[in-house]
Amino acid sequence: MNTPLISFKNVNLAFNDNIVLKDFNLDVFKGESVVILGESGSGKSVCVKLLMKLLSQDSGDILINNRNIKKFNRKQWLEFLKDTSMSFQSSALFDSISVAENIMFRNIYLNNMPPKIVSKNARRILKEVHLDPNIENNMTSTLSGGMRKRVGLARAFADNPKLMIFDEPTSGLDSATAQTINKLIKKATDNRESTTITISHDLTSALVIADRICILHNGKISWQGSFKQLLNSKSSVPLAFMKPYHDMIKSKL
Ligand SMILES: Nc1ncnc2c1ncn2[C@@H]1O[C@H](COP(=O)(O)OP(=O)(O)OP(=O)(O)O)[C@@H](O)[C@H]1O
Ligand SMILES: [Mg+2]
Repeated sequence: MNTPLISFKNVNLAFNDNIVLKDFNLDVFKGESVVILGESGSGKSVCVKLLMKLLSQDSGDILINNRNIKKFNRKQWLEFLKDTSMSFQSSALFDSISVAENIMFRNIYLNNMPPKIVSKNARRILKEVHLDPNIENNMTSTLSGGMRKRVGLARAFADNPKLMIFDEPTSGLDSATAQTINKLIKKATDNRESTTITISHDLTSALVIADRICILHNGKISWQGSFKQLLNSKSSVPLAFMKPYHDMIKSKL
């Protein structure tokens, strides 16, 4: 078996008496598209924030290429960040710089990319996420929620980093744009050069994106498998997760 690119090992995290992760284990392999599903408040965003060191766990370890992230020195951590992107549930854009500067942020600040190339690349990526390239010079504070979401996604796609993390990438988007985003995420792993972790509530996204679906329930991954296995599963956690979708389909018949 290959070494996982990312490995959560018996991770525990509680906020006072709110136990969020309890002996949480998850392996993600290079080139995979993993989708984490789970009900609201189950700890999906917390998982990826732990991986990005935006939070720290109470106990347990997170390994990247078999190395504990607690032991990374600054240089090793920056190297990891150079090839990793995250689109946040809340977009988390920089409001004091333009759309293009947000999208190409890493290249401007790490590689001094010249403005002409920033503009050219930003315009191309804006089109890919269904935005008008002419908004490149707008300040992000002037954008609508759905536009901000797509600028955040454009920033995650810029340069095709080796690891891309998407937290609720399609929430708040119209269904045609959501489908385009789903396909872009899937495409990122087509040649197996990038690895993606996508957090979602949405089964239609999982259908398009996922090589492997992981359901987070009661602080751990309580079920994992392909979309087809999810549809056919008789275990209680996937059945409970699928129930609203069956009910919705039935109500439309
Ligand atoms: N910084 C924090 N301080 C205290 N509690 C927190 C913090 N971050 C998250 N939580 C709590 O941890 C739990 C899991 O939160 P998380 O944001 O991971 O949920 P989620 O599965 O991403 O939900 P959603 O689908 O609504 O985005 C929630 O009960 C939340 O209130
Ligand atoms: Mg969340």
